[in-house]
Amino acid sequence: MRLALFASGNGSNVKAIIQAVNSGQISATIACIVCDEPAAYVIERAKQADITCFVLARDTLSRQEWEEQVIHYLTEKQVDFIVLAGFMRIIGNTLLHTYPQKIINIHPSLLPQFPGKQSIKDAFDAGVKQTGVTIHWVDSGIDTGDIIAQQALDIQPSWTLAELETAIHTIEHQLYPKTIQEIILSRSSKS
Ligand code: GRF
Repeated sequence: MRLALFASGNGSNVKAIIQAVNSGQISATIACIVCDEPAAYVIERAKQADITCFVLARDTLSRQEWEEQVIHYLTEKQVDFIVLAGFMRIIGNTLLHTYPQKIINIHPSLLPQFPGKQSIKDAFDAGVKQTGVTIHWVDSGIDTGDIIAQQALDIQPSWTLAELETAIHTIEHQLYPKTIQEIILSRSSKS
């Protein structure tokens, strides 16, 4: 399988996936990274890992135009599966129709609780005792696709928001590579 990793920011999940591919935990090739934020640190991570990174800002483009250019690039790179890893934009129909049931996302809460962009803070502020991480198929909604995997996390009463964020990211960096490999294995056993 040839993966494209989509990211908009820090890229710690991208880093974890690269490490998992390099160590053989994930049996796939990272064909490229796609980034929509020219100042994102993930671009530097791509350089360090010697992985080609396609940076295309959304500023002057419609969602459809952006996706058409990205699909052109993905086709060149022979990508067959897309992994969103901190990608902060909604995926539109152009990409969804080109990659049906081939786009996954990671979200830092136990969906359907706390969808949206500030889920860790929202869970912390709500004072819930438990939150977690969800990996799901991407559909046209915001964090609404079918759930593939979830891992719960008990919030310790003494934790600050920063401590909760660290605990969530630690789970993400293990759960995402593990789940990607499970998907790859289940698809290869069907083909
Ligand atoms: C992660 O918490 C992920 O669940 C969410 O965005 C964050 C990205 O972090 N979708 P990073 O860029 O991978 O460090």
